[in-house]
Amino acid sequence: MSDKSAAVKASRLSKAYGEGSGRTVVLDNIDVTFERGELTAVMGPPAAGKSTLLHCIAGLEKPTSGRIWLGGDKLTGLDDESLSRIRRDRIGFIFQSYNLLPTLTVAENIMLPFELAGRHPDQDFADRVVDAVGLRDKLMRLPGKLSGGQRQRVATARALMLKPDVVFADEPTAALDPHGSADVIELLRHSVDELHQTVVMVTHDPVVAARADRVVFFESGQVATELRSPTAEGIGERMKALARRRRMRDGSGW
Ligand SMILES: Nc1ncnc2c1ncn2[C@@H]1O[C@H](COP(=O)(O)OP(=O)(O)OP(=O)(O)O)[C@@H](O)[C@H]1O
Ligand SMILES: [Mg+2]
Repeated sequence: MSDKSAAVKASRLSKAYGEGSGRTVVLDNIDVTFERGELTAVMGPPAAGKSTLLHCIAGLEKPTSGRIWLGGDKLTGLDDESLSRIRRDRIGFIFQSYNLLPTLTVAENIMLPFELAGRHPDQDFADRVVDAVGLRDKLMRLPGKLSGGQRQRVATARALMLKPDVVFADEPTAALDPHGSADVIELLRHSVDELHQTVVMVTHDPVVAARADRVVFFESGQVATELRSPTAEGIGERMKALARRRRMRDGSGW
């Protein structure tokens, strides 16, 4: 069943790569829901399956089994064409490496989603986003002439432009210095608080995750635990507890 208050819901979601003895189970029968109008952080050790989860629920990769809903619409089982249309029109994605088009100006990069979707630009909303990301004086620049933080703000503006049902961000601050990182997380926070966006963001940084409404901790392809209204200290403690449990389970510690 789909859940009307959920922006995204995955049910019994699994993803495995390879065959036979080379088979690796990356997502192991996961149930997870991301609420509408919230900023959710996804955390967990390297290779836990965080990027795979985001790619599967954003329709960039096909799960091995399970179901995914975007609002009331089931994504699993759709043909490739319908899925790419939904991905283009209703899902935003922010990558660690920005993925801007180097030969297009900032303005052209930001407005590209309208062109790809064949939609008329919503100029009022575009203006609000440009002001929110603080790039009004950089609109005619090429991405190569921007700092990392500025580039990620362009990528964020681009992801917000079509008011997607959800924006996924995979370690959006990982390549940035603390100042750039703070700018980008505050921008994502603003997009949720002021533009009523739903954001799901993977991060390794407790300070970044503390700006979320909820943190989902991921481990070995499963949801291990979660935290509401997190603080950086609370996140740090939970990470330590999970690491301790991992060492005990692996027999490599106490
Ligand atoms: N295309 C693929 N083919 C085979 N294995 C893959 C593929 N993509 C990912 N994996 C494996 O899946 C596991 C989870 O990878 P994933 O990138 O989802 O982890 P992650 O939690 O995002 O890690 P990190 O924090 O390092 O980004 C890893 O063991 C990885 O090697
Ligand atoms: Mg990853």
